[in-house]
Amino acid sequence: MNNDLFLKAAFSQKTERPPVWMMRQAGRFMPQYWEIKNKYSFLEMCKTPEIAADVTMLPVDLLDIDAAILFSDILVTGEAMGGDLSFTQGVGPKFANPVRSQADIDALETDVADRLQYVADAIKVIQQRLNGKIPLIGFAGAPFTVMSYLVEGGSSRDFKLTKLMLHNEPEMAHQLLAKIAKVTADYLNLQIAAGVNAVQIFDSWAQALSWDDYREFSHRYIAEIISNLNRKDIPVISFCKGSSVFAPMMAEAEPDVISIDWNVDLLDMKKRLPQGIAVQGNLDPHILYTDKRVIKDRIYRLFDRMKDEAGFIFNLGHGIMPDIPFDNVKYAIDVIKEFKY
Ligand code: CP3
Repeated sequence: MNNDLFLKAAFSQKTERPPVWMMRQAGRFMPQYWEIKNKYSFLEMCKTPEIAADVTMLPVDLLDIDAAILFSDILVTGEAMGGDLSFTQGVGPKFANPVRSQADIDALETDVADRLQYVADAIKVIQQRLNGKIPLIGFAGAPFTVMSYLVEGGSSRDFKLTKLMLHNEPEMAHQLLAKIAKVTADYLNLQIAAGVNAVQIFDSWAQALSWDDYREFSHRYIAEIISNLNRKDIPVISFCKGSSVFAPMMAEAEPDVISIDWNVDLLDMKKRLPQGIAVQGNLDPHILYTDKRVIKDRIYRLFDRMKDEAGFIFNLGHGIMPDIPFDNVKYAIDVIKEFKY
């Protein structure tokens, strides 16, 4: 690997500056993304290895980040299990056959790695293009977050139906979560076998859960997935919105890195975690809307806090919003790359 800053930091080794990548770095804030998006549907882009590779490479070529992330979506596991998935502009993801009854859960399939072979094919094309320049991060959705889309049938503000199932029908909920966890572990192992250099588990909506519910319905399935990964030399990153509260519990699942949201001081949180767990984060993505002097100041403030720590990867606390100016993202990355501890 020509640039191994990301892998070093992920394994809690010292680096001369913090490595940088950004969640949702391959997406709609980039004019070049729209040139491709205007020609294909989102799922066509994910399922055509050459196109998925083109989009994965956009931030590598235009932003010069320290790690690439596979272009795909967390909901492809739900689709492979039998979910009728579509993405509509302005509406977001939809499952036309939501999972709400025992019969719906029974109908979901779990031996589905073959249906996700297009992802392995995309990884191989991407690794040829990267040619050892920077590491490639693979990813999957965490069972609770994927469950919420399957049950609600799409995005939700309050996760009402999902929480009703957790609380009224916990046995059913556990069957569903266990099925998703099995598919997710197989899927991440397929990505590892195809050549990704790291994996991230996205539990975007965990913050909707209470402490006890997070342990029962989310954490234990993430722990099960992580324990089933063929993870030798492959760092595992655990992300959730809500990590400013849940990170100490997330650490019990033994990921290599925990991705932290922006509600907490990153150094204080790192000190609360066991030795050897690196942190990723935690700039409020809204800072990327602001004036360049603010962007630079907030990055330097974060780096000043983290300067004596091995095991720090710069990222946002959540993904880049589609209307953040491209120029600001580029500026932030340039500021980070010029920084020396
Ligand atoms: O980070 C990257 O650049 C890699 C690609 C990636 C996408 N989705 C592409 C995408 C990744 C890592 C994801 C993860 C994902 N998908 C998450 C977890 C991350 C997070 O932000 O919390 C979630 C919750 C989803 C589900 C999802 N996919 C939603 C809610 C939507 C629609 C609204 C939105 O935020 O875009 C998508 C669609 C999607 N996934 C797009 C992209 C580039 C937009 C598709 C389009 O062009 O219309």
